[in-house]
Parts: sequence; structure tokens; C-alpha cells
Amino acid sequence: MILIVGGAGYIGSHVNKELNKRGYETVIFDNLSYGHEDFVKWGNFERVDLEDVERLRELFCKYPIDAVMHFAAFTYVGESVEDPQKYYLNNLKNTLNLLQVMLEFDVKYFVFSSTCATYGNPLKIPITEDHPQNPINPYGKAKLMVEKVLEDYSLAYGLKYVALRYFNAAGADADGEIGELHDPETHLIPLILDAASGKREDIKIFGTDYDTPDGTCIRDYVHVTDLADAHIKALEYLKNGGESDFFNLGNGNGFSVREVIETARKITGKNIKAVEDRRRPGDPPVLVGSSDKARRILKWEPKYDDLSKIVETAWKWHEKL
Ligand SMILES: NC(=O)c1ccc[n+]([C@@H]2O[C@H](COP(=O)([O-])OP(=O)(O)OC[C@H]3O[C@@H](n4cnc5c(N)ncnc54)[C@H](O)[C@@H]3O)[C@@H](O)[C@H]2O)c1
Repeated sequence: MILIVGGAGYIGSHVNKELNKRGYETVIFDNLSYGHEDFVKWGNFERVDLEDVERLRELFCKYPIDAVMHFAAFTYVGESVEDPQKYYLNNLKNTLNLLQVMLEFDVKYFVFSSTCATYGNPLKIPITEDHPQNPINPYGKAKLMVEKVLEDYSLAYGLKYVALRYFNAAGADADGEIGELHDPETHLIPLILDAASGKREDIKIFGTDYDTPDGTCIRDYVHVTDLADAHIKALEYLKNGGESDFFNLGNGNGFSVREVIETARKITGKNIKAVEDRRRPGDPPVLVGSSDKARRILKWEPKYDDLSKIVETAWKWHEKL
């Protein structure tokens, strides 16, 4: 049985759906701090906080867990600067709790949600896995610390892990059963769709004078169902004897803020009002990853490489909110 920690959240719920579709049994642990119980439509569910090691032990006794996928974390970069302790306690210490119980129960397979934020400001584009890691905020630092812990645990205790460094997760389940619902929302596509559906007045473009073709920031958007597929491929790779490793997961194509807004206008048929604003501190002009390693070693082939398809699935979900 696969344990999905944080499986009531955006990415974890999509991975849960895909695992169940492919015949895996799953159990989800989530404290519902940011997750949604109605996203848990498949498998078993336990409401539990990673802080509670005793309860984790009880649940590892209750379920025959043989692998863990770990999505649970706080995810707001700005908040991590204002309140770093909150991030080190949950994203680092609570991950150590989970690993501790896994080792006690001899569970050796671990797939971890890392992030492109571990790289910090890019020195070259596209970013490959050997790019220096100099995170510029506590969110990215805590994720990098977990990566380092995994290296040591792997050497000392035989833990087999894959850390997946995602770029911008986007889109929603093609059947419209689950999707992206963060509160507060900070991600560009759902914010644009909020402007399309009238939930917000406009969408702000932070910086129009970057050294990019249209002056706005360029990001790499990877579809959440492609992420789900990569997690399952990572797990199967480990179970087939693959070495512990790190992989970028991105689409490989960058899209500017203006391009995303334009695509959303076409797909929704709405006149989305865009307001130009000043640059935000800490936003690199271009963040695009190379996923060649995941394609080569995990045999991962993202299906949603086209921005329109990503926005289309996001809109199908968003319209129902
Ligand atoms: N969304 C992105 O674009 C993106 C990009 C890079 C990395 N990531 C990483 O991917 C993971 C999932 O991101 P998401 O967008 O699905 O976030 P999310 O907030 O939707 O999901 C995280 C889930 O973890 C749960 N959780 C948090 N702390 C917990 C705890 N102590 N005990 C139990 N449950 C807890 C929350 O309730 C939530 O359901 C995170 O680790 C995030 O850092 C996300």
C-alpha cells in the first residue's frame, strides 16, 4: 500500500487518483490545514498531523505501507521569509518525524516533493539538476535541507528515495473531479481564471521591463497529471532497483505572464483585465527547467506540453467552483 502524505492537497490528490487508476492501494495522511477532504475520492484517509509521532506509529501498524510519497508542506514563499520557524518546523522537522517512523517500520521507498526554489536565482537556462543550489528563501532552504537529509539517510540506513524538483504545477484533472484550490491562492493560472470568472477584478502583471521578449517573467508550467505520472514512474524505478536520485520536472517550455493571460482569454472567451504593476523583489526574469534526466532515466513523457491544454483543464475545473 502506498502512503500519500498531504494527499488531500492539490498535487497529492491528483497522484492519488492516478495511483488508484493504475490499481495501487493507497492511504492518505493529511491534517487538512490546507487540504480538502472532498479531494480524497480514492483510497483510505486518516486525518493526522506529522507532528504527532505516536499517532503515525499507530497508523503505520494499521496499514501495510511499503512506500511513501510526501507532499505535505507549507508552500508560501513570502510567508516563509516572514515566519521561517513555521516552515522549518513543518517542512523540515515534521519530515524528519515521518522518516523516523518509516525507518522504525522498515519502509524504504520515499518519493519527495522538492522544488525548483532549491536552485535560487538561475545562473543558466534551462536549469539542469547539476545547477548550483543556493535557495534565497526559507521555503527553498528547508526543501534543500530535506534533500541533504535524504542523501545521508540513504547512505546510512539504505533508504531509497527520489526527490522531484517541480517547476510550476498547473492544470487540473481532465475529468474535472479535482483541481487547484489553494487559500490564499498565489499561483498565476488560478488567479487569472478568478479574474475571468469575476471573482477578482483584474490580474496584476508584476514587472513589464524584464529582459524577456515581451518584458514579463517567463515560467515553466508542468501539468499536475504529468507530475502524477512522474511520481508513479519514480516509485517503479526505485522498486526495480534504481539508485536514489534527484530529477527536475518541468515542461521545458517557458511561457511569459502575457502569454498565459492571452491563452486564458482565448480559452475562457472572457475579457480578462490585466493591470501592469512594478516588479516584485526576488522574482527571477526566467525560470525554465530541463527535464531531460527524468525523460531519459524515468522514461517520463509529459503529455501536456502545450499551454492551451493546461489552461483548458484548469478552466474546466475552475468554472465549477
Ligand atoms: N504547487 C506547486 O507549483 C509546487 C511547486 C514545487 C513544489 N511543490 C511542493 O509540492 C507539495 C504539494 O504542493 P501543493 O501545491 O499540492 O500544496 P497543498 O497545500 O495543496 O498540499 C499540501 C497538503 O499537505 C497537508 N499538510 C501540510 N502540513 C501537514 C502536516 N504537518 N501534517 C499533515 N498534513 C499536512 C495540507 O493540509 C495539504 O493538503 C508541497 O510540498 C510543495 O512544497 C509544489
